[in-house]
Amino acid sequence: MALLRVVDRDGNEHEIDGNTGFTLMENLRDLDYGVGAVCGGMCACATCHVYVDAEWAGKLPAAQSDERDLLQDLSTRRENSRLSCQVKFTPELAGLKVTIAEDE
Ligand code: FES
Repeated sequence: MALLRVVDRDGNEHEIDGNTGFTLMENLRDLDYGVGAVCGGMCACATCHVYVDAEWAGKLPAAQSDERDLLQDLSTRRENSRLSCQVKFTPELAGLKVTIAEDE
């Protein structure tokens, strides 16, 4: 377990005990204010879209082409956008802060 900081769509910040070894999406989908994750992590829906806090953006593994392609089509995409199903939450990411993106 490791600290994961999550800002919901209302701007409220929550601190949760994140399960390391699981993806960010798997940590976020069961929260009331979390992500939809409609496709279950198949990189096909973008309903797990989050914004990674600037201080952490460079510490995450780079997005692969399928994630980049899907993000490209989102009107809500920002430079720090990631699909949370494509990011493993590892112990090294303790303290990571993400913001749940608006729905498309
Ligand atoms: S859960 Fe569908 S793209 Fe991430």
